[in-house]
Amino acid sequence: MNYNNAEITISAVSPAQYPATTVPEIALAGRSNVGKSSFINKFLNRKSLARTSSKPGKTATLNFYNIDNSFFFVDLPGYGYAEVSKAEREKWAKMINLYLTTRAQLITTFLILDARHKPTKDDIAMYEWIKARHGYVNIIVTKLDKLKKSKIDENIELIKKTLNFGENDVLLPFSAQSGIGVSEARELVEGLVTQ
Ligand code: GTP
Ligand code: MG
Repeated sequence: MNYNNAEITISAVSPAQYPATTVPEIALAGRSNVGKSSFINKFLNRKSLARTSSKPGKTATLNFYNIDNSFFFVDLPGYGYAEVSKAEREKWAKMINLYLTTRAQLITTFLILDARHKPTKDDIAMYEWIKARHGYVNIIVTKLDKLKKSKIDENIELIKKTLNFGENDVLLPFSAQSGIGVSEARELVEGLVTQ
């Protein structure tokens, strides 16, 4: 796959705007500011294809990235941040739920978690939802560079325990800063989209 051939197709707010294609889609879900958009950039080796910000709530639409006409990454607004207004959060939740529950070519949703934190109630709910729809969950644990080496295993164990991680689930340690996990993420994606 040619990752240099990547572009944003549309920032959608309603189903009528979703791309009229049938290629597989992989959505990225997680708390605001966890690093969903940064994951896309690092995966594609692009600096700013997906807009990122240190302020939570950057991604406010469903952003469809066409990767070499082979699949789409769908960058979702984040959940769970009090700094985003309640009205805005409710609007995003509706938009996300509609996409996740109706889109036929959605092959999986990556759950993006911060390596430093125990999964929240919202993370657990998203994990359960992905599991119910797809049978198992791909989890990307990011910002690994922010953890001391000695803490990494401990935190990953806590994440697994909190989510009730199953034997079919996949957990991939990642860092958009150091690049750890990029080649594994590409392998994972290629396996999923060529099935
Ligand atoms: P929303 O669009 O608000 O939901 O956020 P997001 O999940 O898309 O997060 P985004 O990619 O915008 O990143 C949020 C902040 O975290 C930015 O300041 C990024 O530079 C930073 N960040 C993301 N990934 C990493 C990482 O792996 N390591 C470090 N050190 N910082 C990261
Ligand atoms: Mg974002």
